[in-house]
Amino acid sequence: MKHNHVEKTIHPCQFPIELIERLVLALTNPNDLVVDPYLGVASAACAAVLHGRRAAGAEIVPEYARIARERIRQAFEGRLRRRPLGRSIYQPGPTDKIAKRPWSETPGETAELPFVVRI
Ligand SMILES: C[S@@+](CC[C@H](N)C(=O)[O-])C[C@H]1O[C@@H](n2cnc3c(N)ncnc32)[C@H](O)[C@@H]1O
Repeated sequence: MKHNHVEKTIHPCQFPIELIERLVLALTNPNDLVVDPYLGVASAACAAVLHGRRAAGAEIVPEYARIARERIRQAFEGRLRRRPLGRSIYQPGPTDKIAKRPWSETPGETAELPFVVRI
């Protein structure tokens, strides 16, 4: 998860809650128990709580466990900072500065020119 993501904590490899929400909705029913034995900062537990499932887990690092508890509390209280499920992906406009591949992977398609660095 990128450092500027709304959900980012100090955990180095947390999942976006939205990713787990999709699994929770596809694989469980309301009031089911979602167990994550490697809880981290509780992305899975938060996804479960947000959709009326119960959650349990284990986390070995005390600071991650503290953040996990706080995020679960926030999920219960409806004040968890998160990227909403289904928000569309940002589409850059024609004037946005974006990096482009210097080649095309589609046969027959014209390749983009590489960046020109002026020195
Ligand atoms: C890949 S991270 C999980 C991140 C989580 N999916 C999230 O979004 O926050 C794995 C976590 O498992 C914890 N962990 C590793 N060994 C453990 C153990 N034996 N018991 C409990 N937690 C453990 C690590 O501290 C780490 O936070």
